[in-house]
Amino acid sequence: MRAPGVTSVNGDSGALIRLFHVSKRFGKKTALTDISLDVAPNEFLFVTGPSGAGKSTLLRLLYLAESTTEGQILIDGVNLARVQRRGIPSLRRKFGIVFQDYKLIPSKTVFDNVALVLEARGVRQRLIQKKVGAMLRMVEMGDRGDALPPSLSGGEQQRVAVARAVIGDPKIILADEPTGSLDAAAAEAIFGLLRHFHQRGATVIVATHDIELIKASQERVICLEGGRLQPLPELGARTSHAPRN
Ligand SMILES: Nc1ncnc2c1ncn2[C@@H]1O[C@H](COP(=O)(O)OP(=O)(O)OP(=O)(O)O)[C@@H](O)[C@H]1O
Ligand SMILES: [Mg+2]
Repeated sequence: MRAPGVTSVNGDSGALIRLFHVSKRFGKKTALTDISLDVAPNEFLFVTGPSGAGKSTLLRLLYLAESTTEGQILIDGVNLARVQRRGIPSLRRKFGIVFQDYKLIPSKTVFDNVALVLEARGVRQRLIQKKVGAMLRMVEMGDRGDALPPSLSGGEQQRVAVARAVIGDPKIILADEPTGSLDAAAAEAIFGLLRHFHQRGATVIVATHDIELIKASQERVICLEGGRLQPLPELGARTSHAPRN
């Protein structure tokens, strides 16, 4: 039951992701304060801001790795406050997630790291072979399927992590500092892949400190500072996009 007088977020805005006065506290620590934000289907959004600003927390709220303290979040018309434990797997299938530290399983091959997503969904082995093979070729790791992640460079591991994130055809790709551990060339390759999957229809949200990559693109940017949405700082040469809310 909603408290009297509290307005509820509704799902008819056309947004794929809606945050409505969202706050998140960890004990006495406030990580996010009063965030309202709409993300349209097939938007590409950068979330920037200094360390500790709340970028990762914001992403984690979207896939219910954390729950909000106040406010509401709607994902694809689903109010996260109403998602019960048994509903979490189907919510998570909407997301492909890329982390700064790749989070591949070191004891499993490149192929198996990507295949696991499809195996968990009961996809038939023959189809898995075909899809994972094609995906690894797409991220230019087609000849490294038998390799173990620790034998790969950071850029190669992150390309595998992108493959794993997108193999299930998620509506939403979340990337938390995906290039934070990579050199400029490897970072550009990862961004190229994220743009490719964006063009194929995914909604993409990237949390990053990488001002150079933001400047080199024309996507919408929001800035967090101390857990609050801030007006955009001057980005220099870039044609800035005003936040839409
Ligand atoms: N599980 C947690 N328990 C307690 N505090 C937390 C937790 N997660 C995040 N915080 C705090 O919330 C604030 C925001 O953290 P968050 O990781 O979202 O920042 P960030 O913008 O992603 O920073 P960075 O750029 O360093 O990754 C920080 O002060 C952090 O210490
Ligand atoms: Mg972070």
